[in-house]
Amino acid sequence: MRIILLGAPGTGKGTQGKFITEKYNIPKISTGDILRESIYAQDTFGKMIQKTVEKGKLVSDKIVCDLIKIRIQKKDCINGFILDGFPRTIEQAHYLSNNKIKIDYVLEFIVPYKLILERISGRRIHLQSGRIYHIKFHPPKIENQDDLTGESLITREDDKKESVEKRLKEYEKLTHSVVNYYKNQKKIGNIKFFKINGINSSSIIKNQIEGILKKHF
Ligand code: AP5
Repeated sequence: MRIILLGAPGTGKGTQGKFITEKYNIPKISTGDILRESIYAQDTFGKMIQKTVEKGKLVSDKIVCDLIKIRIQKKDCINGFILDGFPRTIEQAHYLSNNKIKIDYVLEFIVPYKLILERISGRRIHLQSGRIYHIKFHPPKIENQDDLTGESLITREDDKKESVEKRLKEYEKLTHSVVNYYKNQKKIGNIKFFKINGINSSSIIKNQIEGILKKHF
């Protein structure tokens, strides 16, 4: 079972990806999480990409394709994986097909931009685990603390207004072609493609995804 979660920033990919991971026991591979971990650790790679990510620009295709290549070779991917935030350029989508990495499902999350801004401005994350909260929609049990570890939550650097605007523009410019690419793949029967109405509550979306994936498991 190999799943791609597509959609603009803040549409709920990470939130639902976490649910799919727990329910079906396949890892969620978020290129954003991997990049943020390196930035947080301030390793050489993290220092190199920090400005690009924080400004809301995409890092190079070569970097993310190499990250994916290494990650999907790990043992826990043997029964499948969820790609969250990859591919987001047509070159990244071609990387998967050129390397015969077959995808079963593509789920495209759609949310109007106004709501995206509200969701992103209230987002808090637990960096170490990737757990995602929202001060209004999914608040932690104790303010600003991760439910499981009690560690502090943070606001992502790239969740500042200017960066979010840049990320939405990047999405419009580069990722729409990826959506079209997978729509065409659906037409020729290579993948199953579903639109997810991200306006709905998390539990409604969860049920919808369960309904889609139940046929496979
Ligand atoms: P990345 O981390 O992938 O960010 P993104 O795609 O911009 O997506 P987000 O994480 O912002 O949103 P999401 O859809 O996961 O929403 P979430 O579930 O958190 O990428 C960050 C950066 O890394 C990029 O800008 C780029 O620089 C770099 N990068 C990453 N991948 C790359 C690649 N492939 N190529 C090049 N560069 C790459 O939800 C948002 C909020 O809403 C949360 O607070 C959540 O609690 C809340 N929420 C979610 N669902 C609901 C709901 N149904 N109702 C109410 N609230 C909800």
